[in-house]
Amino acid sequence: MSAAYADISKTPLCELDVSDPLRFENDTWQPLFERLRAESPVHYQADSPAGPFWSISRFEDIVEIEKNTEVFSSEPTIAIVDPPPDRRSPMFIAMDQPEHDVQRRAVQPVVAPKNLQEFEALIRKRSGEALDALPEGETFDWVELVSRNLTTQMLATLFDFPWELRHKLSEWSDAVTSDERMTAGQGLTRDERIEVIMEILEVFTRLWHQRKDDGVESFDLIRLLQRDPHTANMVDDPKNYVGNLMLLIVGGNDTTRNSMSGGVLFLNENPEQFQRVKDDHSLISAMVSEIIRYQTPLSHMRRTLTRDVEFRGQQMKAGDKVVLWYCSANRDASVIENADAFQIDRQSVRNHASFGFGIHRCMGNRLAEMQLRVVWEEALKRFSDIKLMAPPTRLCHNFVRGYSAMPVQVTRLSNG
Ligand code: HEM
Repeated sequence: MSAAYADISKTPLCELDVSDPLRFENDTWQPLFERLRAESPVHYQADSPAGPFWSISRFEDIVEIEKNTEVFSSEPTIAIVDPPPDRRSPMFIAMDQPEHDVQRRAVQPVVAPKNLQEFEALIRKRSGEALDALPEGETFDWVELVSRNLTTQMLATLFDFPWELRHKLSEWSDAVTSDERMTAGQGLTRDERIEVIMEILEVFTRLWHQRKDDGVESFDLIRLLQRDPHTANMVDDPKNYVGNLMLLIVGGNDTTRNSMSGGVLFLNENPEQFQRVKDDHSLISAMVSEIIRYQTPLSHMRRTLTRDVEFRGQQMKAGDKVVLWYCSANRDASVIENADAFQIDRQSVRNHASFGFGIHRCMGNRLAEMQLRVVWEEALKRFSDIKLMAPPTRLCHNFVRGYSAMPVQVTRLSNG
């Protein structure tokens, strides 16, 4: 790692690129955000690969901005980079009211409490099968065999997607978030991404027509869109259809996958916490929230100013980009006590920024928590240890915070 990343204490903030994806890959992002929270909580950066933008790094400021959707709009997009204007795919995460609510309402039933109850048994069965199949006494990649495997199965269920093709869903999820401007050039080019988006549209248009009026009583995301009068013809608006598909594919996939891997890392880094949960499985629910906070699977969301405004003494202009750094909010000690520590028994353990706030607060948050809880319940029934064998490989990405590899060995309980 170069000295420029190792120690930034003497570098003026105006010389640092807050959005630099390498800082997430080499895990040196924290000192920068600590300085931003202390010295420049509403920070303007005049130039970056994504153009000029404001950085909001304190918890309470992010909450306040998310409440004010008239001034801080989610349109045209919610990540730091802009899609080319002719390539925008409207999706409800990137819509303001009233259209946002209309489209969210159509698919929300997929995560209704009754559905979650039914999913739980299925998730438990699949988690057990995946964990039973893990090799013992040899190093394997937890990301591949557990996290990616299980979250892809879940996503296939949400879409009632052809089972044998389910690997496509996680490949697509990786591809559509892999913008070269967010990955220090490591991602796909614009044309490569367009090719993937066209493939998604083609496959899902076929599925739409196969399902239309087939009379099947299912709560999968495609049939839910077909059933709601406001979205019943969404297939005729291919940009909006593929936009929402991308939202649901990415939303339900990378985030949970990276939390499932992050947990293994944090428990290995904090062996006393690992021992506590091994001794007392009733701590698993709280631990899951702490993992999601500590991981912060999406490092930011972005808003765009609809008009000039003064915020915390700074003059912001219509059209400015405002980046809400959830990873920083989750380490804000003015709201979260001892915020840099991984502590599985916090008092207000769900009081974190990872799911966002306000009208766009994550639609799948209860599903994600349940899936992670069940995986850990099943894992701790079977294993006395899940040992990290080498440092994980982190994504070079300023939006998705996660891992491409997590080498581990498991030891089975004698009665597991
Ligand atoms: C640990 C796992 C997850 C994390 C950390 C996460 C994080 C987020 C965040 C930060 C937002 C935007 C919030 C905002 O702008 O205020 C969001 C929105 C969303 N998430 Fe998740 N998510 C997770 C799992 C899921 C799952 C499993 C689904 C699948 C159903 C899902 C579906 C969505 C959708 C549809 C939205 C858009 C909501 C809206 O705009 O109204 N997410 N998520």
